[in-house]
Amino acid sequence: MSDRLFIFDTTLRDGEQVPGCQLNTVEKIEVAKALQELGVDVIEAGFPISSPGDFESVVEISKAVSWPTICALTRAVQKDIDVAAESLKYAKKGRIHTGIGTSYWHIHHKLNSNPEAIIERAIEAVKYAKKYVEDVEFYAEDAGRTENEYLARVIEAVIKAGATVVNIPDTTGYTMPHEYGEKIKYLVENVKGIHKATISTHCHNDLGMATANTMAGVINGARQAEVTINGIGERAGNTSLEEVVMILKSRYAVLGINNGINTKNIYQTSRLVSTLMNMPVQPNKAVVGRNAFAHSSGIHQDGVLKNRENYEIMDPTDVGINESAILLTARSGRAALKHRLELLGFELTKEKLDEVYEQFLRLADKKKDIRDDDVALLVGDATRQERRIKLDYLQVLTGKSLKPMASVRLDIAGEKFDATASGNGPVDAAIKAVKQIIHRQVTIEEFLVQAITRGSDDIGKVHMQIDYNSTIYHGFGANTDIITASVEAFLDAVNKLPVAE
Ligand code: KIV
Ligand code: ZN
Repeated sequence: MSDRLFIFDTTLRDGEQVPGCQLNTVEKIEVAKALQELGVDVIEAGFPISSPGDFESVVEISKAVSWPTICALTRAVQKDIDVAAESLKYAKKGRIHTGIGTSYWHIHHKLNSNPEAIIERAIEAVKYAKKYVEDVEFYAEDAGRTENEYLARVIEAVIKAGATVVNIPDTTGYTMPHEYGEKIKYLVENVKGIHKATISTHCHNDLGMATANTMAGVINGARQAEVTINGIGERAGNTSLEEVVMILKSRYAVLGINNGINTKNIYQTSRLVSTLMNMPVQPNKAVVGRNAFAHSSGIHQDGVLKNRENYEIMDPTDVGINESAILLTARSGRAALKHRLELLGFELTKEKLDEVYEQFLRLADKKKDIRDDDVALLVGDATRQERRIKLDYLQVLTGKSLKPMASVRLDIAGEKFDATASGNGPVDAAIKAVKQIIHRQVTIEEFLVQAITRGSDDIGKVHMQIDYNSTIYHGFGANTDIITASVEAFLDAVNKLPVAE
């Protein structure tokens, strides 16, 4: 048996069946090109009979993609097959994927038929598709709940009719890994001519077993896996490409099975699909979730810093993620902070590190996730020269139908000064109050509030330029309170003015 697993990506067909995730043709072409770069063997581009949009997408993807096989889905219905064949006319390598339900449920309660008639329809569909293309894949829908003996008869018949690939879907995600593995083994051992076709897995994730079932199938002889990026798909989704591929890579010594995926493209493809389909990836999603390589507890961080393999079984760079993230949170120790500081180019003495660490813990209590620029700011605060003018107190009264008012107390070289002012907004009121105290003729030339990108708990960062006697002075402030950050930025600039005589 070959030691290569073919990767059949159905993100653009089964994945795209997710409500609200439909892509237009241009977006589908972008995904198809990314899948080609990723190295998938087959792209299932759509179900052409289902809509003119799906038909057009298969046509355009066939033109846009050069080497993966382009596959089009059909029911075991001649009209479907005619339309699929038409949609594949530009494909360099085209495959028709036809099939019919084989479980008791599908035969009796969906197709209103009987087992013998189903075998006949399956044979006819494969033979009909063979008139158009050499590469015909047959799916036995709901094979997971189909008795093995009957399934073997169906599969034997379609291989005899010319099927090159036989797909054994666990359509309802019901099967357990040992059952699915036994099913594939049963087919390998009991279907005459099975070696003439490739057995394919197609597992849904209703009970969270899709990847485990796929692997059980592969271990027992399947050599094509049908997968989607990020595991998207009907209901709870399909087997995810990244999980299967990284299992094959991480456990190669045990499995000895290759595939053609450029794993370094996994992360960027995952982001692309998530963005275009408006389908966020759950943070703890294996391989591609935001937290898949993020360590937040002090013990794990310390372990990873000593040796990544203490807590990581995959190298994040293998999937295109730059490095493991040592998340800075309230649970991080000094080792993690020191490591981040060193990455940012700060070498601090032990005393300075202690000081920054105290400030860091205070910030981490207010803010869940501390980023590099937050850390740089903390270091800046800890190393900055003592300021002459400091903000001692700030209170702002503002609201929809209130005139904004600010009360400010400044500490100037140890002496306290108070002022109150109103303005057209809370920042304006606070700056006017400060100006009343400092008595300097300054004008604000630029006032830049950095967009809050992460969440409402993020630090607001303010850059300010003020003009004094035709010279520009820069100020910078940061705080979880945007008005305090603005006043701090203003004072930072004011502290740089020449001291008044
Ligand atoms: O889940 C399934 O059975 C399918 C088939 C149409 C292949 O998606
Ligand atoms: Zn499916």
